[in-house]
Amino acid sequence: GGSESEEGGEAAGGSEFDLVSPGALTVCSDIPYEPFEYEENGEYVGFDMDLMKEIAAGLDLELSVQDVGFDGLQSGAVLAAGQCDVGASAMTITPDREENLTFADPYYDSLQSLLVPADSDVATLEDLAGKSVGVQQGTTGEQYARDNVPADTEVVAFPSDAELYAALQAGNVAAILQDLPVNLNHTQEGEYTIAAEFETDEQYGFAFPKEGSEALVEAVNTELAELRDNGTYDEIYNTYFEE
Ligand code: ARG
Repeated sequence: GGSESEEGGEAAGGSEFDLVSPGALTVCSDIPYEPFEYEENGEYVGFDMDLMKEIAAGLDLELSVQDVGFDGLQSGAVLAAGQCDVGASAMTITPDREENLTFADPYYDSLQSLLVPADSDVATLEDLAGKSVGVQQGTTGEQYARDNVPADTEVVAFPSDAELYAALQAGNVAAILQDLPVNLNHTQEGEYTIAAEFETDEQYGFAFPKEGSEALVEAVNTELAELRDNGTYDEIYNTYFEE
């Protein structure tokens, strides 16, 4: 936690915040999106989940996680409806999203990539001509695909990364356009490989409802800065990513 003397600082139970469920930080996320959010031994873990655990603890709040669809989360609808206090879902900060959401300070740098079967001859977006590419609905990967693939490439949107990956496994799409760290996670068995990376300069941010979230956003930024200062951020980073 922060210093006790700080103006507008934390109170036990987070009483100065208007929380969805008093005493708890209610987090919405689209799970699984490994290594950011996934289930292991009946527990939600991953880079986002571990950061949220620390942030909730720093604010003297319980952590409550709800698994929701990504599209409604990124549009702002889920948070505007009051389902959660915060969205932690490897969500890229974009100007469009900032119209409906408030983001805390960036916490992770990312980029797009193309995942293909190891024996595929697809090496570039141009090679997708006449083929189909899978994306997750509402993501920056979907937007990047729609903006950049050849005119005769079919872009097929799936609600979740799991359905997207299943479509690649079934041979229903020739490739997946998705955030690099998540696509990389699907290369571990050697069946799939990263054909190309796209320097989209994305930054992930925790997302809040536009209305009435100022105090919570500020408190989360304070906690994030503290986690960076005290080495906890690096420790969590090294758990999920290679240095
Ligand atoms: N970073 C991308 C975006 O913001 C994809 C995020 C998808 N996250 C998830 N948990 N499924 O659009």
